[in-house]
Amino acid sequence: MENELQSHRITASDDIEVSAYLEIAKELHGEQPVVEPKPPPSERETIVVIDFGSQYSMLIARRVRECHVYCELVPYDTPWEKIAPLNPRGFILSGGPASVYDSGAPLALSYIYESHLPVMGICYGMQAIVYQLGGEVASGLKHEYGHAILHISSEDCPLFAGLPPSLPVWMSHGDQIMEMPPGFKSLAYTENSPFAVIGNDSGIFGLQFHPEVVHTPQGKAIFQNFVLRICGCQGNWTPANFISDSIDKIRKQVGDGKVVCALSGGVDSAVTATLSDRAIGSKLTCLFINNGLLRREEPERVLNVFKRNLKMDIVYVDATDRFLERLKGVTDPETKRRLVGNEFIQVFEEEAAKLGKVDFLAQGTLYPDVIESSSTIESKASAKIKSHHNVGGLPTKMKFTLIEPLRYLFKDEVREVGLALGLPEDMVWRQPFPGPGLAIRVIGDVTKEKLEILRAADWIVMNEIKKAKLYRQLWQSFAVLTDVKSVGVMGDYRTYGYLIAVRAISSEDAMTADWTRLPYDLLARISDRIVNEVSNVNRVVYDVTSKPPATIEWE
Ligand code: XMP
Repeated sequence: MENELQSHRITASDDIEVSAYLEIAKELHGEQPVVEPKPPPSERETIVVIDFGSQYSMLIARRVRECHVYCELVPYDTPWEKIAPLNPRGFILSGGPASVYDSGAPLALSYIYESHLPVMGICYGMQAIVYQLGGEVASGLKHEYGHAILHISSEDCPLFAGLPPSLPVWMSHGDQIMEMPPGFKSLAYTENSPFAVIGNDSGIFGLQFHPEVVHTPQGKAIFQNFVLRICGCQGNWTPANFISDSIDKIRKQVGDGKVVCALSGGVDSAVTATLSDRAIGSKLTCLFINNGLLRREEPERVLNVFKRNLKMDIVYVDATDRFLERLKGVTDPETKRRLVGNEFIQVFEEEAAKLGKVDFLAQGTLYPDVIESSSTIESKASAKIKSHHNVGGLPTKMKFTLIEPLRYLFKDEVREVGLALGLPEDMVWRQPFPGPGLAIRVIGDVTKEKLEILRAADWIVMNEIKKAKLYRQLWQSFAVLTDVKSVGVMGDYRTYGYLIAVRAISSEDAMTADWTRLPYDLLARISDRIVNEVSNVNRVVYDVTSKPPATIEWE
């Protein structure tokens, strides 16, 4: 019962929802997702980021990828057997919350120093290097947090190529280096840190500051210097390479098997489906389930893209009536989520059963989901899975092996791949859309009529935001049909109509969000058009609440 009362909100968006439903269905039948082992060593070069638990670790991986070099973030205790197949060209040791003197503090495994590959330790990563190679770290004497000016004392060091003699950097550390390990020298200093950057002749560097954050504006150049000049990477990891690599891999993995892929209309499942189609053609069946909770013209657009543009075969299932029947009279947001999730799995199962034996499920899991689910038990991903486990009464056997071609990509990389595959910009840049769709944007009871009102209003919001060229800048922008009616006047008549709320927010990751200060004249146009063009609506309000304390969605 306690679980019943907990929120079933899911912080992920669009495709993650579909994946979660399917994974849970399988788990309930005692099945663990089967993830294929990594492919054999290839020519692809990798920078391995050793994760000591910094909140910025993922950003490090991102910065390396921006240099067009493949990169993986691995737990600090990952054995060499798992690293070797990646064809590592260098290591980056991340920051982390520990102090090297804490009992059980995470340290770099010996292969990192024995590999003779370049190493760059950042913050805690630097302290680990100093501690392990015979220097001295002082614990918590002086905390340094915020901007500092880095003065380069060794201008010919390749790490600083192309950089000015002084640059702003971002510091955030408690412990400090007191004595460098033998063979190291100071390469740069700040007012408070004589050893802000250190290095030795074997290509091992330590940085006291964080080059990965935006507050170190020249951080990208430091990564480029490390990865390209010092590690000697080619920088040839491009969307085109990724596409041809993935196609090869999918082909090998699938063999003569049969693959099913559920489309959601979002970019992740679209890219997954397109890659799979290029790899295995008719062995792939894409299922597109219209739950009746999509936005105006969305089902048509998805079908058009896949059938006409990409010439793919889609099984289209219009399950609108089933979903609406299930939702009849339901007002509680979490119950709506559960019902939509349940129904999705049922429809999916029924359709998959019609295809005969299916061996693989292709899904658009992204790198942040992989990292989150493997890092801590408290992770968003595991919370998401738990919330769906509460659903109860989930269906029969689904025995698929997963194909996850986007498993190591970030969202912006997926978008680049999508564009390189020729997916339309509309689809590639689609704002996140929740799995339960408009069911959680019609407040209270969901009916066909209300959905139509909301679709008409939402269409206007989208249209005006796109005309104002704000669509890509905003994390999400949409209309909500509130359960409130109010009095108005139109001509000589009194009206009593619905209240539409407009929401536009800016966010980095949906965990926090700020309401966007849309121009007044844009708001005025949206409001005028809604009350004039959408029948039964006579009032529009703009939501000026950030997250927290509000959430992005109203339900
Ligand atoms: P909230 O409303 O929790 O939303 O601030 C955060 C992000 O998650 C999306 N969202 C969902 N996505 N299933 C989903 O797939 C859901 O049940 C769900 N609820 C919220 C929301 O659109 C925003 O991007």
